[in-house]
Amino acid sequence: MGNSSTELDFDKIITRQGTGSRKWDDIGSVFGSEEVLPLWIADMDFASPGAVAAKIAARAEHPLYAYNAQNETFNQAIVDWVRRRHHWNIEKDWIVQAPGVVPSIILSIIALSEPGDGIIIQPPVYPPFFASIKDNNRIIVENPLLSKNGYYEIDFEDLEQKLADTKNKLLLLCNPHNPVGRVWSREELTKVYTLCQKYKVDVLSDEIHSDLVYRGHKHTVFASLGTPVCKQSVTFMAASKTFNIAGLNTSFMIIPCQRRRGLIETEVNRLHLRRNNLFGVLATETAYQEGEAWLDNLLVYLEKNADVLVQFVETKLPGVKVVKPEGTFLAWLDFRAYFKEAEKLDRFLVEEAKVGLNSGKSFGSQGEGFARINFATQRSVLVEALTRIERALKKITG
Ligand SMILES: Cc1ncc(COP(=O)(O)O)c(C=O)c1O
Repeated sequence: MGNSSTELDFDKIITRQGTGSRKWDDIGSVFGSEEVLPLWIADMDFASPGAVAAKIAARAEHPLYAYNAQNETFNQAIVDWVRRRHHWNIEKDWIVQAPGVVPSIILSIIALSEPGDGIIIQPPVYPPFFASIKDNNRIIVENPLLSKNGYYEIDFEDLEQKLADTKNKLLLLCNPHNPVGRVWSREELTKVYTLCQKYKVDVLSDEIHSDLVYRGHKHTVFASLGTPVCKQSVTFMAASKTFNIAGLNTSFMIIPCQRRRGLIETEVNRLHLRRNNLFGVLATETAYQEGEAWLDNLLVYLEKNADVLVQFVETKLPGVKVVKPEGTFLAWLDFRAYFKEAEKLDRFLVEEAKVGLNSGKSFGSQGEGFARINFATQRSVLVEALTRIERALKKITG
């Protein structure tokens, strides 16, 4: 089925206020202001593919929303998607459905480590990584990324030291990386793989952003390294970011190792999380089966937004630094030339610029003086937000 021109009109403003949107309707409680233009939480201001909306509407017509069956076609759609988009051959049995990536990470941490164990993360990184470890009585072990003029790389020397410490049992990888936008290369991931094999550390690879990768870059599934697959890994994926269906709470894990899968499934069962969301399953399956052309169009639009953002920052926000992300719809803005302290920057963005971005500090201490901007919005909205920042900076620089 072809795509209609309206579903590919990413410039079209779709009002989200009043739809129960966390991003738009919660700005008062999150930022303490109803005036901010929100470019924070990682969802998009675009309608999902038409096929997804149509399938949901058609199913909603049937007025019974009771327990739904475990869905074979869901697993098949995942197998086909992962093969087509990521060139990874998996078996249906490896898939474990879950209500979200963060809950899946937590389940895996509980299943594959003990209280008191160290879990390595690479900050600045997605805030729930910290809480998933700390709130489950494990120890956060930081292997901070190295910034080379804003281009982030893995500090392999430090990583090896952390992996060599036998107290550290898991590496929680963000692949591609939120917030720095790196799509880790095959070479980088092979180095990580080799080190983790050497020190027998399992890898939890959060690949929720894996479909959102720009020209010149290619996502590598961590577990696809090694022969035939890296069995010391769990891969977390979802259609939620890719197709803007995060509100339907559906994700999945791919766990090639039978023993590890058994341990994680025991946790899933213990919490009685086997149920799935009727609409989430339908939307995921439909998006994977029918949403590919829409996604290819979306990626062109998003990459252009990334270019517009970078050009705006370079020409109109002197002192602010940004590197074009290789993937994700998030960019990491460095305001340290103006603000060293997070509180001052956060206050400036809300009170002076009137934009709602994510505070860099929430991504770890390395994020002081930074803010994360979500550019998955209409270009006019993005330019309006950047113009607000430009005006506010002019006021303080005179
Ligand atoms: C790296 C990463 N993992 C997980 C999530 C959220 O996953 P979920 O909503 O499925 O728990 C996000 C959302 O921004 C993310 O960026």
